[in-house]
Amino acid sequence: MTSKQTLLRGRVLSFTAEPQDPQDTSAYEFIEDGALLVADGMILAKGSYGDLAQQAADAEVIDHRPNILMAGFIDTHLHFPQVQVIASWGSQLLEWLNNYTFPEEVRFADAGHSAEMAGHFFDLLTSHGTTTAVAYCSVHKTSAEAYFTEAARRNMRMIGGKVLMDRNAPEGLLDTPVSGYDDTKELIAKYHGKGRGMYAITPRFAITSTAGQMEIAGALVQEHPDCYVQTHLSENHDEIAFTAELYPQARDYLDVYQSYGLLTEKMLLGHSIHLQPREIDALAETKAKPVFCPTSNLFLGSGLFDDAGLRGRGITNAIATDIGAGTSYSMLQTLNEGYKVLQLQNQKLHPLRAFHWITRGNAVALGLEDKVGTLEAGTEADIVVLDSRATHAMDLRMQRAETLSEELFILQTLGDDRSIVQTYVAGQPMKA
Ligand code: GUN
Ligand code: ZN
Repeated sequence: MTSKQTLLRGRVLSFTAEPQDPQDTSAYEFIEDGALLVADGMILAKGSYGDLAQQAADAEVIDHRPNILMAGFIDTHLHFPQVQVIASWGSQLLEWLNNYTFPEEVRFADAGHSAEMAGHFFDLLTSHGTTTAVAYCSVHKTSAEAYFTEAARRNMRMIGGKVLMDRNAPEGLLDTPVSGYDDTKELIAKYHGKGRGMYAITPRFAITSTAGQMEIAGALVQEHPDCYVQTHLSENHDEIAFTAELYPQARDYLDVYQSYGLLTEKMLLGHSIHLQPREIDALAETKAKPVFCPTSNLFLGSGLFDDAGLRGRGITNAIATDIGAGTSYSMLQTLNEGYKVLQLQNQKLHPLRAFHWITRGNAVALGLEDKVGTLEAGTEADIVVLDSRATHAMDLRMQRAETLSEELFILQTLGDDRSIVQTYVAGQPMKA
C-alpha cells in the first residue's frame, strides 16, 4: 500500500549553509513556483511544481501561492511554566524571578494545571510558526510529563527537561540532589529518544543549585552524553555577583558549570551576555552554544549580546524567545529585536542570515540539521507558510519590495503570528 502523498505548492525557500553576506545566493535555494512532496511525516522531494506534479500525479495538491514555504522555526530557549508570566512589569532578573516567576512555577506541581498549560503552550508555538523548541519545565516531574505527553500527542520534535533547583527559591519549588537525579533518570528513560522527544538535563542556574546538586548534574551528563544540557549564564550583573559569592572557588561564572563536567558541545547557555575572556575561550574550545535572547534581554534590561564577538571566535550562537522574560512567541519578532540589539553595537544582521538562523542555524546548534531546519528531501516535514502581506503596513511596504532579501526583511521586522498562514508538523496542518 502506498501512503497518502501531499504536494505543497508555494514559493519554496530552504537554506543549505549560513549565508556569508547579503548577496550569498549559494547558501540557499529559492524556487518561485516550487513544491514539496510530503508523506509519512517526511519531505520526499523538493523541486519545481511542474516537475513534482508530474512525478506524483496522485498527490493531493495544497496551493499556498503566493506565500513562502520555509522550514518550521526553532526556538532554542524558553520556559514552558511561564505562559502566565510573560508581560510582568517592572523589575530586573532576580526580583522578576522572585516576584513573578517562582510563585507561578509552584502551580505546576499540579498535573491538571500542567496539562492545561501544555495545551496552550504548544498551540502558541505552532500558531507562531515554531515547530521545534528547547524548553525548561518546572522543578516538578509532573510538568515535564505534561510537556512530553503533549509534544508526543502532536508528534513534535521537542527538547526539554525538568529544572534542577535545590536552594534560593520557595519551598514548593525545591528538589534535592537525590530526588533531582532520580526524577531526571526516570524522565530520560521515559521520553528521551521516544518518538520525536529529546531530553535536556537542566540545572536552572548556579544560584538555585548547591554544589551537591551540580555534582549529580555532572553525573547525569556523564551517564547520558546524548542528552542536551541547558542552563543560564551571565545574564545580569547582580546574578553574576551572587554566583561569585555562592561559588567563591570558581574562576568565573562559566567555571561553575565547567568544573562539574557540564560544559560540552551539547550545552546551551541562555543569555551569555557579560562574559570574561577566559569564558569565551572555554566556549570556543568546548563548542558549547550561547543562546541570544533579544526580547528578554531588552525587557529585563539585562544587556546586549555580543553576537559578532562570539562568532569571530568560531562560536555557534543560537537564538531564542526566552518566554516568559521574552515578550513574543514569534521568532520573527525575535529577529526584529535581535536586529536592533546588534544595531546598538554597530553589528549587522542581514535577512538571509536571520532566516537561516531561526531555521537551519538553530538546527545546527542542536546537531539536528539532518532532521529539521531545512526543506531538503529526507528531512522531517516541519514547514511554515509565510504571508509577507499579512497586515496593511506589510502590504503597503511590500509594494516597494523588489528582492527576496527585501521581502524577508519586511517579514522579520513587521511579521508575527499574523504572517503564519499554516504550520505543518510532520506533514500535518496545525491550523484548522
Ligand atoms: N535565570 C534563571 N532562571 C531564569 C528564568 O526563568 N528566566 C530568565 N530569563 N533567566 C533565568
Ligand atoms: Zn531562560
